[in-house]
Formats: sequence, C-alpha cells, structure tokens
Amino acid sequence: MEEKTLQPHVIIIPLPLQGPVNCMLKLAELLSLAGINVTFLNTDHVHRRLLRHTHIHSRFAPFPSFRFKTVSDVLPEDHPRTGNRFLDMFDAFVAVTNPLLRDMLTSSGPSSGPVTCVIAEGTFDFVLDTAKENGIPVIYFDTLSPCCIWIYLCLPKLIEAGEFPFKGNNLDTPIKSVPGMESFLRRRDLPDFCRSGDISGTQVQICLSETKQLPRAYGIILNTFQDLEETTLSHIRSLCPNVYSIGPIHNLHKAKLAEETTPSTLASSNSFLEEDRDCMTWLDAQPLRSVVYVSFGILSLTTRDDLMEFWHGLVNSGKKFLWVIRTNAVAGEDGDGQIPAELSEGKKELGFITRWAPQEEVLAHPAVGGFLTHSGWNSTLESIVAGVPMICWPSYVDQLVNSRFVSEVWKVGLDMKDTCDQVVIENMVNDLMEVRRDELLSSADEMAMLAKKSVSEGGSSFRDLNRLIQDIKFMNV
Ligand code: UDX
Repeated sequence: MEEKTLQPHVIIIPLPLQGPVNCMLKLAELLSLAGINVTFLNTDHVHRRLLRHTHIHSRFAPFPSFRFKTVSDVLPEDHPRTGNRFLDMFDAFVAVTNPLLRDMLTSSGPSSGPVTCVIAEGTFDFVLDTAKENGIPVIYFDTLSPCCIWIYLCLPKLIEAGEFPFKGNNLDTPIKSVPGMESFLRRRDLPDFCRSGDISGTQVQICLSETKQLPRAYGIILNTFQDLEETTLSHIRSLCPNVYSIGPIHNLHKAKLAEETTPSTLASSNSFLEEDRDCMTWLDAQPLRSVVYVSFGILSLTTRDDLMEFWHGLVNSGKKFLWVIRTNAVAGEDGDGQIPAELSEGKKELGFITRWAPQEEVLAHPAVGGFLTHSGWNSTLESIVAGVPMICWPSYVDQLVNSRFVSEVWKVGLDMKDTCDQVVIENMVNDLMEVRRDELLSSADEMAMLAKKSVSEGGSSFRDLNRLIQDIKFMNV
C-alpha cells in the first residue's frame, strides 16, 4: 500500500484559563515557526478577551496554516469564572468540546489538512479515547507544576497507604508516600481539594482519572526545566517515559522568537485583561530593587478583610509596592469591585495600585525586589526567570505545592500559606527585602541563570522542544 505523507497538523486544546492559554499559545507559536499546521481551540469568552487586549491576530498572521477555532463555554458572559466557580466552566467546556473534537478528527479543514496529532491539557481525559478511536496520537501538555503532577500520579499510592483522604485539622502531619518529597511534604502542601476528606469530590475524581490517562498518551509536555525539577522529572518518567520538558516556556518562546524575528515583533502578551502601562512609568522612577510586586493571578479571590491585612502589612513594612487588584478580586463583590477607599487614599507615596499589569515586564524591571504571589505556576516560573525572590500566598491546586518548593526546595522565597495577618505580612516583607535578602537573592540568581541556560541553544528545554517538533513531524506518515 502506498504511504501518504501528510502535512503535520496539530489541534491544541487548552484549559480556558489565563495561565494554561498563555502556555499553549506560546507552544502554538513555536510549532507554527517550525512549519507545523496548528488549530487552536478557544472558548468564545477567552477569544474575545484576547482580541480585545492583545495583538493575537497580527502575531499569527505570518502563519497561513494557523487558525483559531472557537466554541461556546455555555456560561453567561457575566459568570465570574473565578475561584471554585471555575469547575462550572470545566464541565461546560468538556460537554461542547468532545463532539466537536470527534468531528474535527474525522474531517479536514480546507487549508490545514487532516489532524495528525492532538495536544491537550492533562485534565481533559476524554481527549485520549476520542483521539485513539480515530488513530490519532495525543500528547498531553500539563500546564500545572510537575511537582504537583507527580503528587497527582501518587494519589493512588497515598490512598493505599491511608495518607489520603485524611480527617482532622492536623495539617502539619508529614506525607510519606510521594517519592522524592518525603522530607518536606505535609498535608498542608497537598492540592487544596485534598483537605475536604472526601475522595468522591469532583476535583479528586478528575485527578484520579488524569493519573490513568497520562501514562497512556504518546507523551507529555511539561513547563519546567531539568535543573529545576530533576528528581520530580525522573519520577514522572518512571510512569510516563516520553516527557518533553520545555520550560520555562515563556522564556524559550522569547529566545526562539529573538532568533527569528525583529525586536519590534516581540510583544507577545496573551493577557485576558487590559494591561496598565502607567505602572511601568511609575516603576521607572523607583530605586533599584526597592518595590514589592503584589499579584494573586486571575482566578484567586480575596476577602475584604484579607485585603486590608495585606494593605496594613505592606504599609507598615515601609516598602513601596506595585499591587494588582483585579475588578472581580474581592469575594462576594461583583460589579466593578471598587478598591476600598482606605487603599486608594494616600496610596501614591506608598505604592501603586493597578487592575492588571504586564507581569513579565514588571518582574524584569530593576526596581522590583520581591514578588508577593499566589504561586500560580506561570507566575512562579516568571519570577524564577527574573531572579526575583517570592512570598507565597497560595489558594488553589498546585499553588500549595509550588509554594512549598519555593521555600523548602529551591529556597527562593518564603511560604505564607494559611495565614493572612498584617504582622506576619509586615515581617515577611521585611525578611524578603532586607533581613534575608542576600541569601534569597543568591539562590534566585543561580536559578535564573540555570533557567536561561535551559532555553539557550543546546540547553535541556531547547533540545526537548526540537525533539517534540521532530516527533510531531514524524507522525505525519
Ligand atoms: C491557574 C492556577 O491558579 C495555577 O495554580 C496554575 O498553575 C495555572 O492556572 P493563574 O491564576 O492563571 O493560574 O496564574 P498563573 O499560572 O500564575 O498565570 C497568571 C498569568 O497571568 C501569568 O502568566 C502572569 O504573567 C499573567 N499576569 C498576572 C499578568 O499578565 N498581569 C497581572 O497583573 C497578573
């Protein structure tokens, strides 16, 4: 029988959240640059935001075989899509995407040709069966931190050992059934949904299903680099041998684009919200490493009381701050979510409050000396690349694991999880910016250097991206 060579064509299916969409768009651009046809599946809601706040169309214009396909997430426009309400979106997205995927795998688009590979977020277990029915290989891109993914993969072991589910308030009890983490992992550092004590909860079930599907995929892409998570990666490889470790993807993306294009085309924000450029002008006027950057990402919710604890803690520390407070960041308050009057008054000499900032640029700014973060994986990697030490105040999923690694393993920051008290905040800010500054900066500099090395020619992430591209091209026969 005659073998037919097809043009490689990948469908990319991200979780419709800021962090994952950001990573997947960067991957889409890297694959497009390598001559691979890409179809990127977005929800209408996400797509409208990208159109409004980024140059997404002109960025992908040089790639005629790249296309966006959009689906409705079936939720009303004013649904918050934040905090735990994110699960509503997950269910809706899965319900509309599965039949669409089946359809896309059996018909070919006019310009891109038949699909030769699917790249999907690791939580989408349905993708594997649907793609396998049609003989199409699946590569999962798990955009969470690999240290958290390894905990997911160990959940069956934790259940068998009786370490999970657990009851009671003793969150400092050590967890011993996650190889490589025995010496520092506590109940408190497990993903937040592990605290419910209920194994039948939706998130635990998604997780358990993911642990079954990941090893069945052709491979998995992880947003990390060898020197950062060597032990974790070797454990993951024992269950899923074909791992492409291509992080920090934002940095690899930047390095690859710098090779290919002129600097003027490098603006590559994937922000869902309008970025405030005025905060950069404000930063320009601040002394070297004097500012604490504060941001809790796009999903996290804060109570008004917590917000005030942060305010007093920051003000009492005497350090200047650049603080991102989204319009919908305060739990239980909708509309335009006014910044409390106490925070607006007199803020100018103390700090700068904004709705959304160009975060990668902020972290790279010489005036920024520390990052008070929710420990989302993208934020963590962006801080590591910039060599900025962190204070971690995690809320969901991998953030609780990431913050433990930041403080205990990589030693590039302090973990403030489960407390929100102005005195603690003041002390931690002082530790970060003064008392422990040299020690934290020295580890942060070392890690930033290793991150840069990994995405440079010959580095581990650089090589893994090339291998991924070659493998995708090889699938076309
Ligand atoms: C979600 C989960 O909360 C997180 O645990 C998981 O690792 C990824 O998905 P998210 O809230 O999207 O995280 O946070 P994060 O992964 O840190 O991504 C936020 C992105 O928004 C970053 O790329 C950051 O640069 C960007 N951002 C944030 C801005 O551009 N401006 C801001 O003001 C704040």
